[in-house]
Amino acid sequence: MESAVKRIGVLTSGGDAPGMNAAVRAVVRTAVAHNIEVVGIKRGWKGLIQGDIELMNLHSVAHILESGGTILYTARSDEFRTVEGRAKAYNICKLIGLDGLVAIGGDGTWAGALALASEHDISVVGIPATIDNDIGCSEYSIGFDTAANTAVSCIDHLRDTMQSHERCSVIEVMGHNAGDLAQYVALASGATDVIIPEKKWNPEEVINNIRNRRLAGFTHFMIIIAEGAGSSAELADYIHEKTGLTARVTVLGHVQRGGSPTARDRVMATRMGYWAVKILAEGKTNRVVVSKDHRITDMDMFEAINTKHEIYEADHIISRAMVGDLI
Ligand code: F6P
Repeated sequence: MESAVKRIGVLTSGGDAPGMNAAVRAVVRTAVAHNIEVVGIKRGWKGLIQGDIELMNLHSVAHILESGGTILYTARSDEFRTVEGRAKAYNICKLIGLDGLVAIGGDGTWAGALALASEHDISVVGIPATIDNDIGCSEYSIGFDTAANTAVSCIDHLRDTMQSHERCSVIEVMGHNAGDLAQYVALASGATDVIIPEKKWNPEEVINNIRNRRLAGFTHFMIIIAEGAGSSAELADYIHEKTGLTARVTVLGHVQRGGSPTARDRVMATRMGYWAVKILAEGKTNRVVVSKDHRITDMDMFEAINTKHEIYEADHIISRAMVGDLI
């Protein structure tokens, strides 16, 4: 059956994430398959307010599956947080004849979409994309796997030099206020310790852990700290003061946000982009595409935004066990 939806917009907003382009491609290609036109909105909500748009087709998304960043650019918009800003954005939607909108980003991006749809007559669907993986409603958010692999590769390099010099490496990993990326990366790189915002921590325990590892014969130490958990520089100073070890800080920073997406990110983005257009074409609105029990599905956007994010507790326990600490 022919869908009542004739033209949709797609935008990326918030921090970019590897795989966003793959999601844009899937949205465009699925829409074309449904005879739906797609308008690419540049620079997120800011671009929508300014009418910064381009018509997209099969060719405009060729060869972007493998590229990092977002061809649609991304930006943060204070104006869109206001009722007046959203009214301007809606006027553009009407002017260019949009029936629906796919918003690719984190839950802040969806909150904007939901506010727009609550105040105006437009269908919205969100797709989770952030390297932080801090979205409570979805087991996975696009970009996490690539960011984790980039971080692990950097940490492997650091380990070589730490091992040679018998030093301690304090590595700060992104994640905003969440420890998912740090904890995952710690398991994948065999870290001595990992510090995340969700768990109370005490620098003395980090020192004890290093001392115990020293007694067990280890001579270099890899401490991972999530950016939201505290100061990596202060921790390194403290380790040096208490153990005499040379401690070097590496802030991995934005390097984690770039690079060609892994196969996992490409596949998840393609599945989610497909799903977003499918449900819009079916007439659904205020939905978020999520990964649940390794399956793609969708859920109510308000409920999605209000689902509390929790770290994967088992990984926390396992990371302690890897350094001989059974909890
Ligand atoms: O949300 C993604 C993220 O990379 C966080 O991990 C980090 O705290 C933040 O964005 C950095 O934002 P900006 O690019 O504005 O420095």
